[in-house]
Amino acid sequence: MQVIIASNNQGKIREYKDIFAPLGFEVFSQGEKSIELDVEETGRTFEENAVLKAQAIYDLTHSCVISDDSGLEVEALNGEPGIYSARYKGLQTEHERRKAILDGLKGASYRKARFICLICFIDEAGQQHLFKGVWPGTIAYEEEGSNGFGYDPIFISEDSQGRTTASMPISFKEEHSHRAKAVKKLMEYLENKAESL
Ligand code: IMP
Repeated sequence: MQVIIASNNQGKIREYKDIFAPLGFEVFSQGEKSIELDVEETGRTFEENAVLKAQAIYDLTHSCVISDDSGLEVEALNGEPGIYSARYKGLQTEHERRKAILDGLKGASYRKARFICLICFIDEAGQQHLFKGVWPGTIAYEEEGSNGFGYDPIFISEDSQGRTTASMPISFKEEHSHRAKAVKKLMEYLENKAESL
């Protein structure tokens, strides 16, 4: 069976290919299927945006599709940047977006935050299935580390002994992150589905 990854992000595409291939799926990126579609993320939640992206590709192809939407929620900033994580305050670089969060929390000791990942899988019958991963933690006082991407240099997960995600080995994130948790749920679902066929 074929599955299309509704993303142009090479990192995400590689990760999902690694998951689906052993389960007997033929995995294609949007590019490999020549689908030139940049779906506008107009949803109000991660769930809505993940569904929007997957459904747009399903409507075109009628193949199985997988999409994900993720971001960071900072409690003391009323949940910002949330669904706007990739374009927070219209700032162009990841460094500027991280700085905006550190500035927003200047002097604050309450720094709780969490990463969220929502995966939408649309099966061959067109049915949507959602899988959510949450990674709780806090925001550091300054940037630390160079691994990962996005907000990793300022996020200290609850299971990293006070170090930022960007300071931890890449394998740590692969095992513990919001994305890893959502992917694990998706894999459990697919394995059960495969067994019942
Ligand atoms: P999207 O899921 O591709 O829409 O991007 C979400 C944005 O959230 C990314 O551009 C990052 O800024 C941020 N983000 C999501 N997951 C992570 C992560 O694992 N580490 C750091 N930042 C992340």
